[in-house]
Amino acid sequence: MNPDNKITLLGLGAMGTALARTWLAAGYELTVWNRTASRAEPLVAQGAKVAASAAEAVAASPLVVVCLLDDASVEQALADADLTGKDVVNITTGTPGQARERAKWATARGARYLDGGIMAVPPMIGVPESGAYVFYSGSDVLFEEHRDALAVPAGTRYVGEDPGSAALHDVALLSAMTAMFGGVSHAFALMRGTSVTPKEFAPLLVEWLTAMSGYVHGVAAQLESGDYTLGVTSNLAMMVQGNATLLRTAEEQGVSAELLTPFMALMERRLADGHPDEGTAGVTDLLKR
Ligand SMILES: NC(=O)c1ccc[n+]([C@@H]2O[C@H](COP(=O)([O-])OP(=O)(O)OC[C@H]3O[C@@H](n4cnc5c(N)ncnc54)[C@H](OP(=O)(O)O)[C@@H]3O)[C@@H](O)[C@H]2O)c1
Repeated sequence: MNPDNKITLLGLGAMGTALARTWLAAGYELTVWNRTASRAEPLVAQGAKVAASAAEAVAASPLVVVCLLDDASVEQALADADLTGKDVVNITTGTPGQARERAKWATARGARYLDGGIMAVPPMIGVPESGAYVFYSGSDVLFEEHRDALAVPAGTRYVGEDPGSAALHDVALLSAMTAMFGGVSHAFALMRGTSVTPKEFAPLLVEWLTAMSGYVHGVAAQLESGDYTLGVTSNLAMMVQGNATLLRTAEEQGVSAELLTPFMALMERRLADGHPDEGTAGVTDLLKR
């Protein structure tokens, strides 16, 4: 437990402001700092204390949450702060390598360190039914001691003592999402100019992607067993053949296939390597250097 009920929050961008509001509403004594001081003003009415510098904000509470733009801004903001005895929770998005370096950096300055990756957008913060959560990794003692406070804005998922683990989970999910929205962009482009409006098409797209997402478990089972033909219902030979239809349709509709072709090229390589009965799990092998 954080006996003082005190939290310091550095960063009042869209995400930081959403976090601040939930801690204030839950009765925490919140000290905030933001590089552009005016962004703190609306929070004063809700009871936030505003620090004149990041160093002053850090001094105000044992628990220091950092939600800035990127790793470089974290280093800059905390340059003059005394971190001795502080519990630093950095939920700024970064790479696993940056998280590990930041953990060493904070530990060398006398702090305990927990890294985080936020799986939510600001309107989901403080809304339990939204499904928002944050991956955490690093000091398990810190996590356990501040678990209640950390659980106020969003759910918590602790993913191990390696400080880079939260960022890796975060980025893996974001990468899958990026490819999914690539597919969504292509699908809307195909339908553009037809009598089907985007709003009419959207429910079909959501329904299909939701149905297909279940196959992720099948890929996982194949990767773990090492048998990439396990439970395959749509084999690579058939899918590669089908790719020609996808590409030709793009051409007929006057749509660039540039979002599709990199994945298709990997499927073709795996097929050419002699794996017609697999699904797509073998593509993972081709990617891992
Ligand atoms: N918004 C989202 O949907 C979302 C979702 C998940 C995770 N995140 C992550 O949450 C973090 C914050 O995002 P956000 O949406 O709040 O971004 P934002 O609205 O762009 O705010 C950026 C914040 O970083 C501060 N900042 C930037 N450079 C700085 C520097 N050199 N020194 C000190 N402060 C600096 C800004 O201060 P000023 O006000 O002075 O510019 C502001 O407080 C990011 O790491 C982001 O990836 C965001």
